[in-house]
Amino acid sequence: MKSETSVQEIVNVDLGDRAYEIRIGYGLIREIGSHVSDILKRPKVVIVADRNVAGLHLDTLLDGLKASAIEAKSILIEPGEASKSFSILEQLLDDLFAMGVERNDRVIAFGGGVVGDLVGFASSILRRGIDFIQIPTTLLAQVDSSVGGKTGINTPRGKNLVGTFHQPLRVIMDLDLLATLPPRELRAGYAEVVKYGLIDDPDFFEWLEENGHLILSANGDMAATIYAISKSCQAKARIVAEDERESGKRALLNLGHTFGHALEAECGYDGTLLHGEAVAIGMVMALDLGHMLGLADAGDKDRLIKHLRAMDMRATIADIGVPMKAETLLAHMAQDKKVEDGKLVFITGGIGTATIRKDIHESTVLRVLENALDA
Ligand code: GLY
Repeated sequence: MKSETSVQEIVNVDLGDRAYEIRIGYGLIREIGSHVSDILKRPKVVIVADRNVAGLHLDTLLDGLKASAIEAKSILIEPGEASKSFSILEQLLDDLFAMGVERNDRVIAFGGGVVGDLVGFASSILRRGIDFIQIPTTLLAQVDSSVGGKTGINTPRGKNLVGTFHQPLRVIMDLDLLATLPPRELRAGYAEVVKYGLIDDPDFFEWLEENGHLILSANGDMAATIYAISKSCQAKARIVAEDERESGKRALLNLGHTFGHALEAECGYDGTLLHGEAVAIGMVMALDLGHMLGLADAGDKDRLIKHLRAMDMRATIADIGVPMKAETLLAHMAQDKKVEDGKLVFITGGIGTATIRKDIHESTVLRVLENALDA
């Protein structure tokens, strides 16, 4: 769906002298010059793009920059989690030096979470840190990873184990880009939208129950999509502004992630299970844990499963179709970077009442895992 004008919402991430805007609308990359000119020190940028995204949208972005007389060079990154590695980081840094990137230049990350995390990390260390602009191209990156400044790469010991907090200078969300996203990826990103309703906004969850299909339909409804993305970004911006470095409240954003990461690790990051799909199933498990702890209504878990199924999404481990064992999943969880003082951190509760818990006994976790494997 294309619009004639850039319908636009602005969400502010209030971080003092590092505050920045998230600009949300349709057609923004066509007019990108007007969204970045004011934050460039000289009319020159390097775009780092996912190769798939580049094939579809790089020319539009380049034309948009050219229209504002901004010179652009591009570097293409292979799509997929494997690009979040030391070797690709080293290559990227070298390419950026070879292109003459100076301390005051800006780099644009043009892609999904992989490109955003990699480019954010490279920017945070290149010449001791340069500014970067996020143009997230997936729903998941728009509602989660492009906002909040977490950057990083993976190591053989786990995902995102090496990284920095480095906030972008601006985030430009062009919702036209979602039209070329594979439906499965759109659904995976939608899990992170649902997450914001589950954390502390039961009215938003209810709105999604009624309107989620408008966002996920082939011709995504513009007003509903803008509303859901703005609402998600507002929720994320509020939490990040309160707790940028995750010493407390920001951990709520990890709802569904402790269970989800174990499922992802078991599936091997090869596309069998997308991150958002793992989070969706993990959120169902978090509500089950909430019920065991007396924090969730009996019907909350079923309500979430019903909504995910209505959105044609995976909701249980059985939906993945990969045999798994509770003990193996528990072992993956012990590797999670959210372990604190040897204890796992769980975000659990009911719909709209998530809390952070570090006191969950292993036997309770095993019961949740066994329930999920039996479902
Ligand atoms: N994706 C979780 C966070 O940004 O904190």
